[in-house]
Amino acid sequence: MKTITSIHQMHELVSLAKRQGKKIGFVPTMGYLHAGHAALLRQCRKENNLCILSIFVNPKQFGPAEDFRRYPRNKKHDEMLAKKEKVDIIFYPSVKTMYPTGYLTYVHVRTLADHLCGPRRPGHFDGVTTIVTKLLNIINPDVLYLGQKDAQQAVIIAQMIDDLNWPTRVKIIATVREPSGLAMSSRNSYLSDPERYQAQALYRSLRMAKKLIQAGERRSGTIKQKINAQIKKNTLARVDYIECVDAKTLVPLRTIKGHVIIALAVFLGKTRLIDNIQVRA
Ligand code: PAF
Repeated sequence: MKTITSIHQMHELVSLAKRQGKKIGFVPTMGYLHAGHAALLRQCRKENNLCILSIFVNPKQFGPAEDFRRYPRNKKHDEMLAKKEKVDIIFYPSVKTMYPTGYLTYVHVRTLADHLCGPRRPGHFDGVTTIVTKLLNIINPDVLYLGQKDAQQAVIIAQMIDDLNWPTRVKIIATVREPSGLAMSSRNSYLSDPERYQAQALYRSLRMAKKLIQAGERRSGTIKQKINAQIKKNTLARVDYIECVDAKTLVPLRTIKGHVIIALAVFLGKTRLIDNIQVRA
């Protein structure tokens, strides 16, 4: 396994692999890797000749009051996990390498960021699409692996790749959960024990919502109220949003119909957690 910090060296390795006819799979991350990342890497390893992981805590996707500085980092642990998952190359650039002085260009995907996390985290998705664009240009992968946990991110990146005619295929991998149902996230490391316990209520409430829809409920207002009640009953959580949206356009629905994502964001203490579940009606 190689760890590469320079864009030039990364380009050279990728060009060589392409000349050798290798299929390249790519998993972009911000590090502090967990079982969710491991699932992406395993799929990437299985389906490609070259498995590339990037680790870069991208300052441009954090708001001024967000947790960029304290975002958890652990290079040694990440390298161990990557080795275990048989990663070929870790791309580990510095902020200066990715955004040298005078950097000016951003990539913006219209409308999809107008919902869910978008209005609550202004500029976040422009930061994500900008860094993913740069990484795709550097790595030029055949397949990009993303997690369903960040559902809005996955929809936005898939749209961008389609709109910009990149040949890269996007594969969305199911959310990996702790036995309690809590979705794996690097930010779970911020949770105290009581908060971690309370966080189980998120997925429990989403599963309840899915069952309601499967039993015939179609009013999104009723579903959102029930999720809210379930979370409030069991936790000290502050709900940021609960929404039922169309899975492609991310537009909030009054009536549940078609392929729907039920998504929520909740603060437990200072930690903001997101989760979602998909349903077809
Ligand atoms: O999901 C993440 O970890 C990040 O948003 C990503 C896709 C690596 C871009 O920085």
